[in-house]
Amino acid sequence: MTPPIRIAPSILAADYAKLGQEVRDAVEAGADWIHLDIMDGHFVPNISFGPDLIKALRPHTKAFFDCHLMIAPADPYLEAFARAGCDGITVHAEAGPHLDRSIQAIRALGKRAGVAINPATPESAIEYLLDKLDLILVMTVNPGFGGQAFIAAMEEKIRRVKAMIGERPIEIEVDGGIALDTIATPAAAGANVFVAGSAIFSGGSVDAYRKTIDTLRANAEGGRG
Ligand code: DX5
Ligand code: ZN
Repeated sequence: MTPPIRIAPSILAADYAKLGQEVRDAVEAGADWIHLDIMDGHFVPNISFGPDLIKALRPHTKAFFDCHLMIAPADPYLEAFARAGCDGITVHAEAGPHLDRSIQAIRALGKRAGVAINPATPESAIEYLLDKLDLILVMTVNPGFGGQAFIAAMEEKIRRVKAMIGERPIEIEVDGGIALDTIATPAAAGANVFVAGSAIFSGGSVDAYRKTIDTLRANAEGGRG
């Protein structure tokens, strides 16, 4: 299976004073998914936003809301994020001892289930979950902040994840430091969902967003060969 290339702007880098507009602009500019970075100041050293903000953004677009929970514990909040309008919910493998239970809970809420692994976490952490997953998020920076440099060693991990999932219909997402000059190699390694925050929203206008999204997509397709 060759899953479609999806560009997922992270609103972590958008203008928080006009988030509804930013989401509409990103979608108008060609975004496939909207990536929502949830940080708790505990699992990661930064705080972002919660389910009420997602609920407020939901009427602004029909686009897939891709929710990345960088929180521990995650389980007590899964229902709130599902009700807020997330379409996919991704939890971190490092965020709690009962990852399988978290994945089952996300599926029971009728949402697409994802697991994220930090740069230091081996892909073997999710080996026994593969039949329950819709998405694997390979972090290409240490989570917590936008604007960090892509960690090149993750290319090998993406390749291993790709081999491990075999024919299962699991999407591989990369997040962190994805820009025009870094997107081709993770695409070549097997990733198909590309989160980009600062690379897109630093543009500051819908035309600039479109230009960046188009070039990201072209460069990812080029990487696939
Ligand atoms: C990092 C977040 C990312 C971040 C990416 O903790 O999960 O989604 O917003 O930002 P850039 O694209 O600026 O590296
Ligand atoms: Zn993210």
